[in-house]
Amino acid sequence: MAFELTYSLCFLLILLHLPLFTTSQPYQNISFGSSLVAQDDDSAWLSPSEEFAFGFQRIGNDGGFLLAIWFNKIIPNKTIVWSAINGSLFQKGSTVEFTGDGFFIKDSETGSQQFISEKTAVNGVAYAAMLDTGNFVLANRSSINLWESFHYPTNTILPTQTLSQGNVLYAAYSETNYSKGRFQLNLQFDGNLVLYTTNFPLDAPYYAYWSTPTVGSGFQVIFNMSGYIFVTDINGSVVYTVSESDKIASVKDYYQRATLDSDGVFRHYVYPKSNGSIVETGTRAWSTSSFQPPNICTAIADKGAGPCGFNSLCKHDDQGPTICQCPQGYTSIDRNDERKGCKQNFIPQSCDESSPESHHFVFIEMPYTDWPNGDYEHFQPVEEDWCKKSCMDDCFCAVAIYYNDRHDCYKKGIPLSNGRNDNSTPWTSFIKARVILSKFYLRNRFD
Ligand SMILES: *[C@@H]1O[C@H](CO)[C@@H](O)[C@H](O)[C@H]1NC(C)=O
Ligand SMILES: *[C@@H]1O[C@H](CO)[C@@H](O)[C@H](O)[C@H]1NC(C)=O
Ligand SMILES: *[C@@H]1O[C@H](CO)[C@@H](O)[C@H](O)[C@H]1NC(C)=O
Ligand SMILES: *[C@@H]1O[C@H](CO)[C@@H](O)[C@H](O)[C@H]1NC(C)=O
Ligand SMILES: *[C@@H]1O[C@H](CO)[C@@H](O)[C@H](O)[C@H]1NC(C)=O
Ligand SMILES: *[C@@H]1O[C@H](CO)[C@@H](O)[C@H](O)[C@H]1NC(C)=O
Ligand SMILES: *[C@@H]1O[C@H](CO)[C@@H](O)[C@H](O)[C@H]1NC(C)=O
Ligand SMILES: *[C@@H]1O[C@H](CO)[C@@H](O)[C@H](O)[C@H]1NC(C)=O
Repeated sequence: MAFELTYSLCFLLILLHLPLFTTSQPYQNISFGSSLVAQDDDSAWLSPSEEFAFGFQRIGNDGGFLLAIWFNKIIPNKTIVWSAINGSLFQKGSTVEFTGDGFFIKDSETGSQQFISEKTAVNGVAYAAMLDTGNFVLANRSSINLWESFHYPTNTILPTQTLSQGNVLYAAYSETNYSKGRFQLNLQFDGNLVLYTTNFPLDAPYYAYWSTPTVGSGFQVIFNMSGYIFVTDINGSVVYTVSESDKIASVKDYYQRATLDSDGVFRHYVYPKSNGSIVETGTRAWSTSSFQPPNICTAIADKGAGPCGFNSLCKHDDQGPTICQCPQGYTSIDRNDERKGCKQNFIPQSCDESSPESHHFVFIEMPYTDWPNGDYEHFQPVEEDWCKKSCMDDCFCAVAIYYNDRHDCYKKGIPLSNGRNDNSTPWTSFIKARVILSKFYLRNRFD
């Protein structure tokens, strides 16, 4: 005790004398009264290996701070794996304090106080600690964990973490906004592991776009130390493998995480550690080891904005994030937020019959492109020219889609939904746009 006190005092003196020395605490159990302040130097409590940190991290250059857990040795991007209070941002000077009741976060601007997560108020807590697994725990004197961040996952799971029935991962809204987005991964009480779109801004499940065949058998999702992610039954037998790393990706050589990304894809990522048997070649980065569903763009076909937003086109990429692009004649509603979708760049066609505007419009032809559902007319069998003319003469028609082999024609209005540009799609889209603008846009065709 005396030693601890002296140690703490020395430490305090060091901090007072060398304020720039460090703000990340060397590893120790976090004791009552400890606190962190949101400031520009990532103040945090570290795990013994210093591979994980719990603390405030600034989001964006002049945004607020997220109270989060992150990979601390991956620089410059300290990848966030968990965040408090549904991804809320806090102003500079906000604090998180460990009291007998749990962890309180105090916002410097509003003065509001709240627990870092539901149910962090637990009885008999003796200390808290950031563990080397990435789990942040509150434990009692017998070192039994009374609360752990692993039981309240946000969008990511880590090796040694399990999901139980009823656990839900929510995708972040975007790569820089950690509030709940448009997708969830749900280990349901019926045993099935399901990816859903949500009816954003509410967070209820909407449309299931991927699931494991484990109704009646699924009990837990386990991410083990060898980098396998699988569903087990109540006896621990594997009933479905979600991901097996294609690299010999043990946790010793690779950092690993599985994240439900903001584009709705659940990706298992690996990142080579700097030492050990791994030969370093060039810049290290997170790479995708496996992902579900196989093609997010073609997996979703229902109400809602999908991965790219209304009027937009989705293109799948095996390695990178899903590509969203506006068709010609359309531009992003918000360049910083592509999920808001695209808007027409031109004044819509007049429906006044005395001055039909058909001659002011042209079609931009896009093969392998479809916006399934949301059709308001269907004609079959008809020729392509007939289909186009029918759309041209119709002020409601924004796009005609045609399937040559079937002489099949659909007309669609605004907003266009579930748009995809994918080689597996037999449909050709004819996008209607005003002449002057389309001449300009013809120069940079989407391909
Ligand atoms: C943290 O506290 C537990 C329980 O009191 C103790 O067993 C452990 O050694 C402590 N760890 C450190 C690094 O102080
Ligand atoms: C860090 O993140 C930014 C923005 O997401 C990205 O452009 C950059 O490539 C990342 N750097 C590394 C080393 O991963
Ligand atoms: C997070 O959001 C949910 C609603 O989606 C709410 O019930 C819960 O209280 C929020 N959690 C915190 C810690 O604010
Ligand atoms: C710690 O928690 C466990 C589980 O709730 C309990 O059995 C044990 O008695 C507690 N230990 C102390 C010292 O309170
Ligand atoms: C994050 O996205 C949510 C949902 O669109 C929005 O309400 C919130 O303002 C965004 N936060 C920031 C910091 O942009
Ligand atoms: C992880 O799971 C795989 C597949 O079930 C198994 O072969 C491997 O031995 C497991 N690794 C550990 C460390 O449990
Ligand atoms: C689990 O094990 C018990 C006892 O061995 C057996 O009765 C039961 O059928 C098993 N359940 C499953 C889902 O395999
Ligand atoms: C690599 O780092 C880990 C922990 O960071 C350590 O346990 C291991 O001994 C290191 N290996 C080598 C070859 O330096």
